[in-house]
Amino acid sequence: MDLRPARGTLDLLPPQGSRMRALYDRASALARLHGYRYVETPGFEITELFSATSGETSDVVTKEMYTFDDRKGRSLTLRPEGTAPVMRAYLGAMQEQPSPFKAYYLTRMYRYSRPQEGRYREHRQFGIEVFGAEAPGADAEVIAMGDAFLRGLGLTRIELQLNSIGDEVCRPAYRDELVAFLRANRDRLSDEHRDRFVDNPLRVLDCKDDACRAVAAEAPRITDRLCDPCRAHLEGVQSGLKDAGLSWTLEPTLVRGLDYYTRTAFEFVSPGLSPQQATLFGGGRYDGLAEVLGGPHVPGVGFGMGLERVLLALEQEGIDAPEEPGLAVFVVGVGEAGHARAHDLVRELRAVGVAADAAFEDRPLKAQLKMADRAGATYAAIVGERELEASTVTLRRLSDGDQHEVAADGVASAVAAVGSAPGGAPAGETG
Ligand code: HAM
Repeated sequence: MDLRPARGTLDLLPPQGSRMRALYDRASALARLHGYRYVETPGFEITELFSATSGETSDVVTKEMYTFDDRKGRSLTLRPEGTAPVMRAYLGAMQEQPSPFKAYYLTRMYRYSRPQEGRYREHRQFGIEVFGAEAPGADAEVIAMGDAFLRGLGLTRIELQLNSIGDEVCRPAYRDELVAFLRANRDRLSDEHRDRFVDNPLRVLDCKDDACRAVAAEAPRITDRLCDPCRAHLEGVQSGLKDAGLSWTLEPTLVRGLDYYTRTAFEFVSPGLSPQQATLFGGGRYDGLAEVLGGPHVPGVGFGMGLERVLLALEQEGIDAPEEPGLAVFVVGVGEAGHARAHDLVRELRAVGVAADAAFEDRPLKAQLKMADRAGATYAAIVGERELEASTVTLRRLSDGDQHEVAADGVASAVAAVGSAPGGAPAGETG
């Protein structure tokens, strides 16, 4: 049996698992701080949910969906993105929900594409969505939260790109103008777009191909053709960002790869990563999405952040990724009596919230110290014959071997006083 995970998927064993978990914890804390509540939707949905909302010509729908028929012949698709599912769930139960509805999710997405660093067939997203808020302040809050998340990790080489792609009032005329321009420049486009630009001309602006980028740079700009309400909205978003102390560049070719966006579109890019995978998170406003699903008018805005890419960006900037708090104490019992005492001590420590562990079997001291090290413990608490007699424990800090003896009932406070967990969390915070 080939033990490697399926192509384009990752196993997250320690310490990577612990880093991903720490990102989840930070994301939850940040979301809660801003009044967002956790939601989950199914891992697969009726295919139409995505084809009708992401857009029939989007990469996600044309090339990347994991679609299969179930035993009754229904077409289902593994979730490639989170916005449409959360909106679907909300529309089915909106009477019981607050407005605005502020939700966050931490979940896996599935997209079939050529795997490479930063692009996987299964990836993890921290996503937030605000439903029922028209005001530009909602867009600014969403963007500022993503910024705060990344900066909170220590990332500094990140850039915010912002655009407005108009709405159903101003976009049609712009679209026609763009089609005419692209027709005149058809020969310069990449093969992919030469014959298909009429289906979705805005997508050419988003194309990463050098030839298309050169054409896009000369194309008419949507930001010069916005209707008054869209222009006012964009100005409102920018003033909110300014108040939040953010800087950004207006990027008129930024259009995003999914069709449901209206007005605000944004991406945070890490210039250190290769352009295809540089977007750490992207999002925008989708005021027409609820209606596509047969619901009432529910304006909305949100982002999706690729968490594997966040870890890559940290590595690229030479920043240690946070890790979830590890084991505070590994209790080492020497001899039969020591082993029994070790297990009592583990129980006592856990009861007061100190993460503790011990070997299941009585093993030699050296072997247990090695186990303590492998387990990532901050301290080894050694209970040998001498300690048993004196009702003490030898507390050894594994990072440097520094050790001292403490009273057997004082281990929890001795460990808590120092703060034991990697990442600086106090010993008690092991949740
Ligand atoms: P998206 O731009 O398709 O937007 O994906 C969001 C983020 O997920 C990307 O910026 C990237 O960091 C990450 N990502 C996407 N595909 C992959 C992949 N194959 N491998 C690794 N990471 C990936 C959405 O999904 C929208 N639902 C975001 C949103 C929420 N807009 C409004 N609300």
